[in-house]
Amino acid sequence: MSVKLKACLCLLLATTQVFLCLAQKKSIDQRVDSVLRLMTLDEKVGQLNQYNGDFSSTGPITKDGDKQRQIRQGQVGSMLNIMGTAHTRQLQEIAMESRLKIPLIFGQDVIHGYKTIFPLPLAEAASWDLPAIEKSERIAATEASASGIHWTFAPMVDIARDPRWGRVMEGSGEDPWLGALIAGARVRGFQGKGLGNTDAVMACAKHFAAYGAAIGGRDYNDVDMSERQLWETYLPPFKAAAEAGAATFMNSFNTLNGIPASGNKYLQRDILKGKWGFKGFVVSDWGSIGEMINHGYVKDNYEAALSAITAGSDMDMESRSYKNNLAKLVTEGKVKIAIVDEAVKRILKKKFELGLFDDPFRFCNAEREQREMNNPAHLLVAREMAKKSIVLLKNDKQLLPLSKQTKTIALIGPFIKAVRDNLGFWSYDWPDDTAMIVTQWQGIKNKLGADAKLLYAHGCNIKDTSRAGFVEAIEAALQAEVVILSMGEARDMTGEAKSRSNIHLPGVQEELIKAIQATGKPLVVMLNTGRPLVFNWTADNVPAILYTWWLGTTAGDAIADVLFGDYNPTAKLPISFPRTEGQIPVYYNHYNTGRPAKNENDLNYVSAYIDLPNSPKFPFGFGLSYTSFQYGEIQLNKTSFTPTEKLTASIVLTNSGNFDGEETVQLYIRDMVGSVVRPVKELKGFQKVFLKKGESKTISFSISAHDLRFYNNALQYNFEAGDFKVFIGGNSRDVKQANFQLKK
Ligand code: BGC
Repeated sequence: MSVKLKACLCLLLATTQVFLCLAQKKSIDQRVDSVLRLMTLDEKVGQLNQYNGDFSSTGPITKDGDKQRQIRQGQVGSMLNIMGTAHTRQLQEIAMESRLKIPLIFGQDVIHGYKTIFPLPLAEAASWDLPAIEKSERIAATEASASGIHWTFAPMVDIARDPRWGRVMEGSGEDPWLGALIAGARVRGFQGKGLGNTDAVMACAKHFAAYGAAIGGRDYNDVDMSERQLWETYLPPFKAAAEAGAATFMNSFNTLNGIPASGNKYLQRDILKGKWGFKGFVVSDWGSIGEMINHGYVKDNYEAALSAITAGSDMDMESRSYKNNLAKLVTEGKVKIAIVDEAVKRILKKKFELGLFDDPFRFCNAEREQREMNNPAHLLVAREMAKKSIVLLKNDKQLLPLSKQTKTIALIGPFIKAVRDNLGFWSYDWPDDTAMIVTQWQGIKNKLGADAKLLYAHGCNIKDTSRAGFVEAIEAALQAEVVILSMGEARDMTGEAKSRSNIHLPGVQEELIKAIQATGKPLVVMLNTGRPLVFNWTADNVPAILYTWWLGTTAGDAIADVLFGDYNPTAKLPISFPRTEGQIPVYYNHYNTGRPAKNENDLNYVSAYIDLPNSPKFPFGFGLSYTSFQYGEIQLNKTSFTPTEKLTASIVLTNSGNFDGEETVQLYIRDMVGSVVRPVKELKGFQKVFLKKGESKTISFSISAHDLRFYNNALQYNFEAGDFKVFIGGNSRDVKQANFQLKK
């Protein structure tokens, strides 16, 4: 038999076997095994290789002109940054020309919406509204999956306590408990009714782990922390994501205590795949396997591949370390084929679960794409989410909400007419999206109708130092009854590789605020940004401040809803706002120290700054409403309980203001004495309570020993009997408190 004929017969046999195994009703594991048995070593390595597409990129590009040939030869398992049914179909067709016809997975950073852009994740976290957050990801998944995407690189569940770090915008803030709940909600939102449904995309919990603790807030920097800190603060949202069924995890760029995350066996094999029983696959971050050379952890890409595959990184995003070295490592006996097989199986399994072996084009329906990408219902959900994300930081003399009858309003600042700055980092510019994006100017016009007199002045640019627009802005302000100033950061000032050492309002923006305030006109300042900023003068002098973050496609309408009282703000900060950069990191759940200050002025050899109070400018959990809420004293149904019992802590909440409104009632706990020291407060519960004006309601929280667990020095997660304090309030600072005991 000729070699050619032999090859043809083998191929026929192989493909027939794949289809036979598909035809028979086998379990996914059996189907995965049958495919694996047919694969050559090169094809196995190919499944572990992920490339960026050629049109856009989210990292440093490696020139590689023959990607299509490599797909055809079965050397690529997944692609990122390929969007749209036409484009994904085209590449999938090429994958179908490969010997075993193993479909590609298309991954994309769908971080806060896809076509319909939602508020950035930190802003959504301010809603403390888990069903709303889940719904936001549901919409994102519906649009992305309709556009050929199978996999989002989200949620980012990194705890971040340093607002200098540009990626603080992508997460849920500083609190591990809230972060864990939000992580679960996001995973459920993305994965919907489960992989296999064409409107579900695989979630990817990232960046595993502790990336948010980059030293000095400088992106990609090293991380050095105690084991207990890791477990107590940084791992809980990852654990929650795994428990919610996240299909994939992404490792991170940083080292953790000297070991790069991509080569970190403890994180990936021992914790994630071992202790937590994670059955999905781990993708590296962009080039992070190869970057272990720069870290000084491995000599070359050969060693990088050895380290990463041994540590449990299954897929190599863009470093080509696996592609160029893994087969050699196996043939030279450095890596057992079983290790490669395990990684391949994890990836194939997801391809089966997504249904791609049954129909590789099931996400390539152009008609569905057209429909979902322009679904007006999605804009309504985005507007709801955006309203829920706006934090009212200050409202002296109830300046807000503004009356819709206000005669002349001056709208000033670089964000009033900005189009794409509303969208924020990690959002896509679609050729036809400007028609969908609602600017602040448009949103306010929509709200007030044609008769309203709106004056506009640009005032100043975001970053530069020109004051040339001040005069025009002051003139506009002088003619108006009320002035709204819209300030903040450009969309490229917070995000990946966007760390800032100075997080004050950029340029001359605060000077413009001062100049407008000097006109004596009632002034509302809106801050559009991706991180907590420092704006002390504004906070101390301007009567009304709305933190509007970057709210996405419907920003203008949502902002107008809040400004004119059609929506009463409910959001609460998911992160503490520092008074100045020197205070960073400042977070509510710190330890007490041996010399805690008695009050903000106490400087008597206590743990304090001599030039600044310890407290943040705005505390975690803070956010006002147009109405006011009064908290009664905490009532406990008993003052001590055993581990098999429950304790109820209740409080009477009264809406004492002039509007109906919703309050997020927060419950914190302090364990007074522990075998390792415990934070002064830890969030352990919250309830969102709607009260009509004048209405009162008793709000009860049930506390069990389960809620009092923590990682002790041996990293056992358990409670310890002893004294506790419980706090209930509308933020982490202003709380009522009571004492209780957990008996043995
Ligand atoms: C980021 C990841 C992202 C990946 C792909 C990396 O630079 O750190 O979060 O998912 O690029 O775009």
